Order: sequence, then C-alpha cells, then structure tokens
Amino acid sequence: MLRKTFLYLSQQSWLRHWMENSPLSQRFTSRFIAGERLEEGIHVLEKLRREKITATLDFLGENVSTLDEAAQSRDNYLKAQAAIRASGLTATVSIKLTQFGLDFAEEACLNNVTQLMECAKTMDSRVEIDMESSDYTDRTLGLVTTLHKRFGGHVRAVIQAYLFRSESDIRSLSAQGIPVRLCKGAYREPPSMAYPLKSDVDANYVKLMKLLLDEGTYPAIATHDETILKQARLHVQERQISPDRFEFQMLYGIRRDLQNQLTGDGYRLRLYVPYGDAWYPYFMRRLAERPANVLFIAKNLLRN
Ligand code: FDA
Repeated sequence: MLRKTFLYLSQQSWLRHWMENSPLSQRFTSRFIAGERLEEGIHVLEKLRREKITATLDFLGENVSTLDEAAQSRDNYLKAQAAIRASGLTATVSIKLTQFGLDFAEEACLNNVTQLMECAKTMDSRVEIDMESSDYTDRTLGLVTTLHKRFGGHVRAVIQAYLFRSESDIRSLSAQGIPVRLCKGAYREPPSMAYPLKSDVDANYVKLMKLLLDEGTYPAIATHDETILKQARLHVQERQISPDRFEFQMLYGIRRDLQNQLTGDGYRLRLYVPYGDAWYPYFMRRLAERPANVLFIAKNLLRN
C-alpha cells in the first residue's frame, strides 16, 4: 500500500516542483544522492575507489519533452564521461532512454546515445541502459540490441525480475552475448505484466540470477537482499564460477554493511551513484522500496 502511494507520488509534478526547490532538499536527499553537481559525483567515485569499489554514474533525469532537453542530457553525460576519464576512474555511466528523447523521437534518442557509446568505446568502458516502466521494455531492448551490434561489449541491458517476460528476455540477451544487470524492478506495474507478490518476485529473481550466472555474459547481480546475496555466493561456489566473471551492484547509500562484506570477501562490487538536481522520481522510488526511510529522513531534518 505504502509502496503504491510513494510510486504514485513519484509521478506528481506539483510535489516534485515543490520538493526539488525546497531549501531543505539537500538534507533529505544526501543519503542517496551524491550532490547536485558533477564534481560532487566524481568526489564520491574517488572515495569509493579508495575502498576498492567501482561505480556507475547516473546524471539524474527522465522523461524529457524536447529535443533541446535531450541534447542537454547527452552533453551532461559526455562531460561526465570526460571527467571519469580525466580522474583515471574505471566507472561506467547509467542512463535512462527517456532522458534522451525515447518518448517522442526514437531516432534522435539513438543518435544521442550513440555519442556516449563512441566515448565509452574509446575509454574501454560501458554505457548501462537502465530499465524504466514496462511501457518502454520493448523499445529499450530493441535499442540495446542495435547498440550491441555496433559497440559489442560496451553496452549493458537491465532486466527486472518482477516482469513475467523476463526469463525469455534474458535467454535472448544471453544468446546474443549482451551483458545484463538483474534487478527486482522499481515501477508501478499492473498484475497482467508483473508478479504482484514480493515473495514471487524474490523467487523469480533467484531463478533468473542462476540462469545469468550460468549462461550470461558478465552479469551484474543488483540487489541488497541479504538472503539472495547468500544464494548467489553459494551458487558461484558450487559451480566454481570465478569472481571476475560477474559483479554485484548496489545503490549508493544503501546497506553499507553488505557492501563491506562483499569487497572484504574479494567479490567485485559496483555502486550506482546518482547526481544532479532532477532527483525527485529517483528519491521517491527509494522511499517506495523502504517506507521506513521516511523516519530516517525526518530524524535527519530534526537533527540539523
Ligand atoms: P528488497 O527491496 O527486497 O530489499 C532488500 C533489503 O535491502 C531491504 O530489506 C533493506 O535492508 C535494503 N533496501 C532495499 N531498498 C532500500 C532502500 N531504498 N532504502 C534502504 N534500504 C533498502 N530498478 C529498475 O526498475 N530499473 C533499473 O534500471 C534499476 N537499476 C538498479 C541498479 C542497481 C545497481 C540497483 C541495486 C537497483 C536498481 N534498481 C532498478 C532498483 C531495484 O529494482 C529495486 O527496486 C531495489 O534494488 C530494491 O530491491 P532489492 O533487490 O534491494 O530488494
């Protein structure tokens, strides 16, 4: 119920406008978001490097409505890639296609993302294409496939375990050698498309995770679920899958205890680090995942 409410609020522009312009915003977002500026994002990445954690940098934004805005997103990402390279970091970037014009100009979107791909290729890095709501799944996977044909090895798809279609998508992506990040899924979906029960989503996650670890190309296991992480570790030990054939991924600011355990035990870990001023929908999805975060934020506001 609370999950649905936060996901509903994440789409309300009046609340978004009010919150993003609030002088208190930095106080409640700082746990999940590196800052509003690129330099703040890079600063976090450098700190993580000292802890032997790699990252994927996300310039926050989604659902732009003009070609100019889409071009601005592209330019911001090109600046981010240049800053990553200048700092000698091995970070990738994560993007949402609706930030590049997918809603209204698919060709322009492809051209924008192609520029990022060219840059990733020269850096021997990767562009990770986040998955948005199921309205976009086909178009997103179509574009990933096109990019993979041209820039194989430098693009990664994301698959959501809550969708019924995901097993078939994973089989198709693995057959093409496209790397996949597996997550549970963070959007409001109808019961005709996605498992409504969390227990079913978790069970499907484990099934898909094993499939990816056995047959995928450098999969990313993206979760903070302690039970699932234990199962992942057990599976790779049983199958003798070497730790350089996959990576774990987590979100910046969530379950640092588990992050330390993984790196301490010699596993690869990449953190998803968002920055930018369009933080509202991302922030609300983090509240939807764990409504107790509201208490944490309220305490933060009172303390300051
Ligand atoms: P689950 O929600 O069951 O949480 C397990 C435990 O993790 C909780 O008990 C709690 O301890 C901790 N936890 C989880 N979320 C928390 C939060 N917000 N605050 C505090 N603690 C929290 N989704 C999507 O639809 N498209 C995408 O492209 C991506 N990309 C992506 C990248 C990466 C690196 C990660 C880790 C996640 C995503 N996601 C995503 C989000 C994902 O779909 C999912 O909503 C969250 O990861 C939460 O699910 P968990 O797997 O952590 O399990």
